Amino acid sequence: MLGIDTSCDDTGVGLVDNGVVTANLVASQVAMHARFGGVVPELASREHTRAIDRLVVEALQSVSIELYELDLVAATRGPGLIGALLTGFTYAKALSFALDKPFIGIHHLEGHIFAALSTTPGLQPPFLALIASGGHTHLFDVPVSGGYRLLGATRDDAAGEAFDKVARLLGLGYPGGAELARLADEGHAERVPFPLPLKHQSGFDFSFSGLKTAAMRLLERGYARADIAASFQETVVESLARTVTRAAHTHNREAVVIAGGVAANRRLRERFAHSGLRTVFPPAEMNTDNGAMIALTAYHRYQESQPLTLDARAYWPLANETSS
Ligand code: KG4
Ligand code: ZN
Repeated sequence: MLGIDTSCDDTGVGLVDNGVVTANLVASQVAMHARFGGVVPELASREHTRAIDRLVVEALQSVSIELYELDLVAATRGPGLIGALLTGFTYAKALSFALDKPFIGIHHLEGHIFAALSTTPGLQPPFLALIASGGHTHLFDVPVSGGYRLLGATRDDAAGEAFDKVARLLGLGYPGGAELARLADEGHAERVPFPLPLKHQSGFDFSFSGLKTAAMRLLERGYARADIAASFQETVVESLARTVTRAAHTHNREAVVIAGGVAANRRLRERFAHSGLRTVFPPAEMNTDNGAMIALTAYHRYQESQPLTLDARAYWPLANETSS
């Protein structure tokens, strides 16, 4: 099974054989967008168009199979940048038509959840799923396989976006999450006071844009960059961990799947290890956007082909029902 993700700035092509990932190639556009300090949608679409065919050929060659041996073609249907989505989605539909093989359109966030589940195949719902990436910070309750109830989401910036914005303030590159985490290792979080967002809420939302403003003020007041990085990171991690733990208690869940680029953060993993919850993280190569997670989701969730008239969707909620 072939899986394609072109929802943002990574061209991801993955292969899954009997539920096992056999290839997972990603062409990152980070260097190209870095000059602009963020993703330029039109450039992303063009770059996907250039990269995708080569990646599919490379992926097939790496496992010595031919195009006609594919059983199914899956691609991210949404959410994401519409032009970027359309490149991979249309490519996949055309391939499915040409090969006369089934086509499946996948929800990007469900893909992130299945990426994490690949490390713990035995994990069955119910569990919570936190997706924290550059574009999303969503907390879902997953009572049954394929059922998603949105418990909370960010009210402003996504967690990864906050990392990227504060990294930029601190003079680090783009995207700055991993670099900020490295700088934080040299700092002392307790030297800098960051306010914990939404401390008194009874719901399960997140808010990170205030931290960016706080970081700016602290920088002006002369606090050390490494200390700001460390304290900022602790605050984001604490906010995520507290809210998720409280949601788990409220909804009587013992396990949480944590996915998306921010799941790579070491402090986040350490903090959740002390949360009392069973935590499941994706393998390193599947934290960030990739095609293998799309093929995996198709493998686990879909029995039937979808029509080639299916449209891509920039905005597409995953939850079938919201709770608050
Ligand atoms: O899932 P992803 O590849 O793309 C989106 O779907 O957005 O996530 C990328 C995000 C970026 O904001 C990046 O800065 C952040 O994940 N990130 C990290 C770390 N590694 C990547 N944030 C915090 N700590 C990290 N180690
Ligand atoms: Zn993503």
